[in-house]
Amino acid sequence: MAQTKRRRVIASNWKMFKTQAETRAFFSAFAPLVAGATHCDIVVAPPFTAISAAAEAARGSNIAIGGQDVFWEKEGAFTGEVAPPMLVEGGCRYVIIGHSERRQSEETVAKKAKAALAAGLIPIVCVGELLAHREAGQTEVVCEKQFTGGPGALTPEEFSRILVAYEPVWAIGTGKTATPEIAAAAHRFLRKCAERKFSARLASALRILYGGSVKPDNIQGLMAEEELDGALVGGASLDAKSFAAIVNGCKAP
Ligand code: PGA
Repeated sequence: MAQTKRRRVIASNWKMFKTQAETRAFFSAFAPLVAGATHCDIVVAPPFTAISAAAEAARGSNIAIGGQDVFWEKEGAFTGEVAPPMLVEGGCRYVIIGHSERRQSEETVAKKAKAALAAGLIPIVCVGELLAHREAGQTEVVCEKQFTGGPGALTPEEFSRILVAYEPVWAIGTGKTATPEIAAAAHRFLRKCAERKFSARLASALRILYGGSVKPDNIQGLMAEEELDGALVGGASLDAKSFAAIVNGCKAP
């Protein structure tokens, strides 16, 4: 496969943490710590209620804001859902789609990604197997199914604008990080899925982030694998110093 130099991305997923006041406090501490970081893209994904506060606090900085989920319709009677243009209006450039805590089906992942792209958002589409799948030797089967029905259902043009996050569910919030080798093997497999479905060019340009218990003390080991194009970080992204250490630790070897 032709080698493409891919720009790394470090994205946070705050899940259901931080009020607006806590969000502002985070940015006051975090923005100066990463102001000199030009080696990667930085994304912070707060809860919906803190998106505007985050966008305001990040204005003029090198930090982009993302949503944690999105619905596929522009408006309608969908209680609790948020539409892509609403995220854009709030100041988002990115949106996480198909996180294992939100995923319903591959079909909804594809619908959400298409709607997000149509609104100009960059989807970070998550895939990843459960522990039971891995133990049963089903990791590739599950990842291929999630890839094919989700990102693989996009047009080539749409696909060229997304990021994929490989997040083995057994590593999320458990402290059990995938080893760099395990993560790299899964990334290589997903890139192969992308090549089969689309083309070598699109597969080689695709940025695949690793997610699952990424911490300041394991980021360098993970990033030593050139298959890993960055990270999606939950717990360790809540603290400004810890998330800054991850951003600053993701430089390519
Ligand atoms: P974690 O979460 O870093 O707390 O494991 C990652 C995620 O759920 O995206």
